[in-house]
Amino acid sequence: MSTAQAVQALVQALGTDLVASGRSIPERRHGDWSGVPASAPRALLRPRSTEQLSRMLRICNEFGQPVVAQGGLTGLAGGACCGPEEIALSLERMNAIEEVDAVSGTLTAQAGCTLQAVQEAAEAAGFLFALDLGARGSCTVGGNLSTNAGGNRVIRYGTMRDQVLGIEAVLADGSVVGGLHKMVKNNTGYDFRHLLAGAEGTLGIVTRVVLKLHPQPRSVCTAWCGLPDFEAVTTLLQRAKAELPAGVSAFEVMWPSYLDFMMERVKALRAPLPSRHGMNVLMESAGADEAHHPAAFEAFLARMLEEGVIEDAAVARSAADARSLWAVRDATAEFPILLPGMAAFDVSFAIADIGRAALECEALLRERWPGGIALVYGHLGDGNLHVIAHADGGRPETRMQIEELVYDLTRRYRGAVSAEHGIGLLKRKVLGHTRSPAELAAMRAIKQALDPQGILNPGKVI
Ligand code: FAD
Ligand code: LAC
Ligand code: ZN
Repeated sequence: MSTAQAVQALVQALGTDLVASGRSIPERRHGDWSGVPASAPRALLRPRSTEQLSRMLRICNEFGQPVVAQGGLTGLAGGACCGPEEIALSLERMNAIEEVDAVSGTLTAQAGCTLQAVQEAAEAAGFLFALDLGARGSCTVGGNLSTNAGGNRVIRYGTMRDQVLGIEAVLADGSVVGGLHKMVKNNTGYDFRHLLAGAEGTLGIVTRVVLKLHPQPRSVCTAWCGLPDFEAVTTLLQRAKAELPAGVSAFEVMWPSYLDFMMERVKALRAPLPSRHGMNVLMESAGADEAHHPAAFEAFLARMLEEGVIEDAAVARSAADARSLWAVRDATAEFPILLPGMAAFDVSFAIADIGRAALECEALLRERWPGGIALVYGHLGDGNLHVIAHADGGRPETRMQIEELVYDLTRRYRGAVSAEHGIGLLKRKVLGHTRSPAELAAMRAIKQALDPQGILNPGKVI
């Protein structure tokens, strides 16, 4: 059966308000942040409820019609991009915060809520919603769970899968699974939260989630540290985890190439420290003891200075100071404009291997493309490196060669080809670098069982 027939059946059953087509589909629905070339969807489904979404999928399943879930389209792996005969499914009308339960410490939200709306609702109720990343204003909690997003505070609170207690989702045949329960412990068979976390819209559509809230930290201390080398970075991480009474809530590492590039190319940024260092760390500690926490943080940094672990540090004295330090790290959002055609990686390694892997990666890239750009930074506390590489004016063939080089290195170090952005379209061909044939076969069997017609985001992930 053809896409035209499927669209006609959808319009007949649900009307043109819920099923848009042709020019009424906004252009921003044509692709995501990855820059993967994509087609305009043949239709755009915009349900207002789980029940409507379930009817839509039932019809698509009858027609064998591929459907691509779209959240805020900030994904960096091409997972939300449509092929020529595909239909997009937007959760934008399912964006209500349904409940904050202060006693259970939970927030129930529809999947189309932006991350920022959830953070703000939690804050208004006196809580913290812990997931945080640069795309917070546009990305949705459905997209966050479907990519199992990480971001800046994983070291303290975990990834998106760790923030979810209950989930409601619609499977390919329209059946609704899961439940909006708030239990911390629930060992009643297979857990749909974990099946759908990181599934990138291939196993089901997330419609609602019950999210875990944390107490708001009363004191947040932030410092930029200049260090001599990578060994000092791992020492600082270990010592901070062991010696800071409130632990570490962010530990972002930037190699000098990254900082030099940002200072030169993003004029609005202020250099965090007066001189250049072998390594840079943006460290944050969030605690409950506002009376003693800042002093303990500064005493720790003084000790690290004395012992030569760090060479210099700038401690934020105000929220504005902290924002200015974070701006240097969040400026990664500028990359697509500054380096069109770049190759971007989010690989992960054992923390013990990261220093060597990063050094080797930078050296190999510079040796092969001496005039090119290679920038390295990452969420070091989680073993997650981001590498940005650009050469030959961003030619697609060069980008493919860069990808081969970096993914081969990742395989050699037994790392993962994606730490947080997912596989989508971009990394499908290298999934086998870091997952075994038996694992891939098991993934295919799960996909086949839940979506036998293969209508949910076909051609993505596996
Ligand atoms: P989309 O891009 O719309 O979709 C992503 C995938 O999820 C697609 O496969 C889509 O089909 C699927 N999907 C979306 N909604 C649903 C749903 N309701 N049910 C089922 N499947 C669904 N990521 C990180 O992990 N850490 C970071 O630090 C980080 N920083 C970023 C900074 C910037 C400036 C940008 C642009 C992106 C960043 N990202 C980061 C990537 C991105 O923000 C995350 O992947 C985010 O979770 C995607 O959410 P989204 O709603 O935009 O999803
Ligand atoms: C970051 C995104 C790209 O950490 O994951 O900057
Ligand atoms: Zn990241």
